[in-house]
This record gives sequence, C-alpha cells and structure tokens, in this order.
Amino acid sequence: MKKVDVQGLIRPHLIGMKPYSSARDEYTGKSEVYLDANENALGSVTKMDLSRYPDPHQNLIKEKLSKIKSAAIDQIFIGNGSDEPIDLLIRAFCNPKQDDIIILPPTYGMYEVSANINNVLVKKVPLTSTFQIQVEEVLKGISDHTKIIFTCNPNNPTGTRILDEDILTLIKSFNGLVVVDEAYIDFSDKQSFISQISEYNNLVILQTFSKAWGMAAARVGMLFADQEVVSILNKIKPPYNVNQLSQEAVLEALGKVDHKNQMVKNILTQKIYLAQELHSLDIIEEIHPSDANFILVRVSEPKKLYQYLIEKNIIVRDRSNVLLCEGCLRITIGNEVENKRLLGAIKGY
Ligand SMILES: Cc1ncc(COP(=O)(O)O)c(C=O)c1O
Repeated sequence: MKKVDVQGLIRPHLIGMKPYSSARDEYTGKSEVYLDANENALGSVTKMDLSRYPDPHQNLIKEKLSKIKSAAIDQIFIGNGSDEPIDLLIRAFCNPKQDDIIILPPTYGMYEVSANINNVLVKKVPLTSTFQIQVEEVLKGISDHTKIIFTCNPNNPTGTRILDEDILTLIKSFNGLVVVDEAYIDFSDKQSFISQISEYNNLVILQTFSKAWGMAAARVGMLFADQEVVSILNKIKPPYNVNQLSQEAVLEALGKVDHKNQMVKNILTQKIYLAQELHSLDIIEEIHPSDANFILVRVSEPKKLYQYLIEKNIIVRDRSNVLLCEGCLRITIGNEVENKRLLGAIKGY
C-alpha cells in the first residue's frame, strides 16, 4: 500500500478552478424535450442521427469496462486515444518551465512531444542494451520537480517485456506518478498492472482500443488510476472528448471480447511465422524478443532495405536512427498475405 499526496502534485491553479459545465452536466436525468444545448432538433444531414451531444462522461462504456477490467468506475478515464490522457497528465501535474518528466528511451514518442508542447523538461534515462530499466539511474534522476515517470510495457519500439519488479520499485520509491503504458498488453501473456491501482495511488495505467481491438480510427484510449488522478483529468478534459460514433463502436466492441482475443491469437501465430522465416535470411542480423504486435529487427542495410520495401509498396518503420535501435526496422505483424508478401520481397532483395 502506498499513498502519495496527489493533491500536492496537481498544479496549484487547477485545484480551485471551476471546470466547464455542459448542458449534459447540468441536467442528467431522462426527459422528453431537450432545448438546453443548442442542438438541431430537426436531426442530422447524415443518415445516422448525430444531432445530440454525446455523453461527456462515457458512462455506459465505463460500466462495461469496469466489469471487464476489474476497476471501479471512478478509477476509469476514457480519452480521445491514449495520446489524450498522456497530454492531460502532463498538463494537470507539470508546471511549465519548472517541472520535469522522466522517460526511458527508446520508447513511445508522444511522452516527449506532449512535454515539449507543454514546455515541460524531459529527462532521459536510456534503457539497458537488453531494453530493461536502469532503475538506480532513474531514481538518481528524480528531483523535487519530477512529477511523472513514463514506462511502457511491453515497450514500443522494442517490443520488450519490461521487468515488473523494476516498475514496482519505481512506484514504491517515487512520490510522483508512474505511468505504465500498456498499449500492447493484449499481445503479451503478462498480467496488467490494473489490479494494483487500489494499492498504489501514484500508479497510472494506459491502454487503448487502437491495437488489439483493431479500432485505431475510432481514437479511444483508457486510463486506470486512483480516483483523485481520474478526477483532475475529468476536470480539465474537453467536455465531449469522445465522440458519439466512437462511443457506440466501443460499446459494440466490448460485447465482442472473444473476437478481439481470436484476432490477437492469429496475430501472435503470424508473429511466430514471420520471425521464423526472417531468422533464416542472411540480411537479418537480430530479431528482438517481442511481447507486442510488431518485431524490431536489426538488418545489415536498414536504410537501403527500407527504401527497397517502399519501392515494393511495403511500408515498415525505420528506427535505425533511434538510440539503441541502430540498424533496426520495426515491422508490424500484418495478415498472412501481407506477411508472405513482405517475406517474398525481402528474399528478393
Ligand atoms: C506505447 C503506445 N502508447 C500509446 C499509443 C497511442 O495510442 P492511441 O491510438 O490510443 O492514441 C501508441 C501508439 O502507437 C503506443 O505505441
């Protein structure tokens, strides 16, 4: 059990700030005639009726997610992608030009970009050569102004499964927030950290509908954390941050967990196939172990191979300029036809 002073971490001017109160906030009951939000009572120009503002609190989604993820409703925040809560966390907790965050490169790029947008300093403590956390170095990097440590497990772009005990050490030792970005958790057999949010009020979990659920276009992300953390994000978020189409899509998706699991299984089968086939090719120097839906491969001529694949109309991600990923391309696992086409192209290189 750990309790940090969450109120003490929040940027002071936000504590007393009055949030926007939407029409849907001011009248929450069910009624018949709604003349309170300046909507168009004649309907939409589209076939689908989009004339009414969506639920600002996404209550139906939270009720369903609460059961699936074993988290209380007030421990759940739904965002416009998980990129939105990344930005909101920085805006809620980090004073520009004063506070800092710690990131562990190579990692997901938006932690740094969001900090830069908000004029918040970024301290970098690189992972080890096997892409694990340098725990002692991270702890040494913490100052009175460090508000958030961003970890990503499984990590992007490496696919690495980060040691849980290292993340736990950070959670227990740090009096700020520790974010565990679990965007790729469905592809791993490791346990989510969600089960620990009641134990540690400085632990923040991010998940997304963009990967395993196959809904990147809907832009819906999930955050699980202590009620005080969720509550400050609710206070500063745009009122209708998740649109009606996306809310309906997520409600449909949450009734189809088996379908999601089946897709994950297929992707994992394809990952094993792709890795085995790539392994036998001379051009492939190393395939890093991956708990995600992509593999990071070190090749002899990354830039040339990347360009060659573009000519074959196959786009992978060139990560060869990224710290510790020198020589590497990141390859998302495609469907069977796509993976065979990629292999055929590489064999012809
Ligand atoms: C580690 C990680 N976190 C978050 C995201 C963003 O996800 P979303 O689509 O939910 O904004 C990504 C997207 O690639 C990611 O790799």
